[in-house]
Amino acid sequence: MQESESSDLPKYLEEKELSNEWKEVIGSLRTEKGWVANHLHNYQGFWHNTRQLQGVLSCQKNFHAHDTDILIVTTPKSGTTWLKAWTFALLNRNQYPPNTQNPNHPLLTKNPHFLVPFLELNLYIDKDTLPNLFSFSSPRLFSTHLPYVSLPKSVKDSTCKIVYLCRDPKDTFVSLWHFTNKLRPPSRGANSLEEAFDKFCRGVSLCGPFWAHLLGYWQKSLEEPKKIMFMRFEEMKMKPKFVLKELARFLGCPFSQEEEDEGVVDDILKLCSFDNLSNLQVNRDGKLSSGEEHQAFFRLGQIGDWKNHLTTEMIQQLHTITEKQLAQQGLRF
Ligand code: A3P
Repeated sequence: MQESESSDLPKYLEEKELSNEWKEVIGSLRTEKGWVANHLHNYQGFWHNTRQLQGVLSCQKNFHAHDTDILIVTTPKSGTTWLKAWTFALLNRNQYPPNTQNPNHPLLTKNPHFLVPFLELNLYIDKDTLPNLFSFSSPRLFSTHLPYVSLPKSVKDSTCKIVYLCRDPKDTFVSLWHFTNKLRPPSRGANSLEEAFDKFCRGVSLCGPFWAHLLGYWQKSLEEPKKIMFMRFEEMKMKPKFVLKELARFLGCPFSQEEEDEGVVDDILKLCSFDNLSNLQVNRDGKLSSGEEHQAFFRLGQIGDWKNHLTTEMIQQLHTITEKQLAQQGLRF
């Protein structure tokens, strides 16, 4: 019996419960061994595990974007959790003043992934029921790891805003390797760094190829700068105040001078800081409904941990791929 068929495994490892609607499509796709669950399938040029792919297909068919929606799009392990916290705190700052002393702030008792759900991983993942989105007030805030090519048509056709976040491939890879090893059942052991690296470089990783994912949004952000804001983890780390203010402007809710004078920008940064979020009870003990422990989303939160993991050859290889795929398009790390 395969591990994914055992009933006591977390939901994120489930592969058996395929909806009849998508069985045929998924069965026809090119498949490789997954990093966490058993399989990754290549759909529209990008890799998804079986459970998530049902969510992708359902969301493509059933999600209808509103012009006022805001979509956080990221490559896995680029700082999604952090950007969700920033954006939630930013948009809701009148209702929930963002200081850490305010015990009623939702970020103090709820994980950012609960407050800003993923379309394909949360809302559209249930094979039998569609989500009721009426409870979301405008602007509705969602997130996704979908590559640009796979976004629901209404997202592309509407005036909804997309905030895209990526991170240096070296740190993204190291973070992904740690994260996926945390998620693997103990019986399967860890993926070796070398095996995972080979897959990452071949593009066979969650929502990979990493470079094609970035490129899709980079090119669109140049064509439609009012619709897509292109962000990097490194900039959030190095000039957080500047980037948060840019984000507020892009989303149509800039900080007033009064807010700046009162320290609202600093309050949001402090509330959403790695130290604050990672030490909250909810993020130390809780789990997502799909079974991942909240604490798995908080590891180091630094730039440059790749130096502690990658060999000179690995660094060179990632550099070469990145130069070849991105530099010509004006995108460098
Ligand atoms: P590391 O594994 O390098 O520490 P994602 O949210 O997309 O899954 O990305 C997770 C990465 O973002 C992890 O990186 C995690 O530690 C980091 N992270 C999470 N919250 C953060 C925060 N508030 N500030 C900075 N980094 C954060």
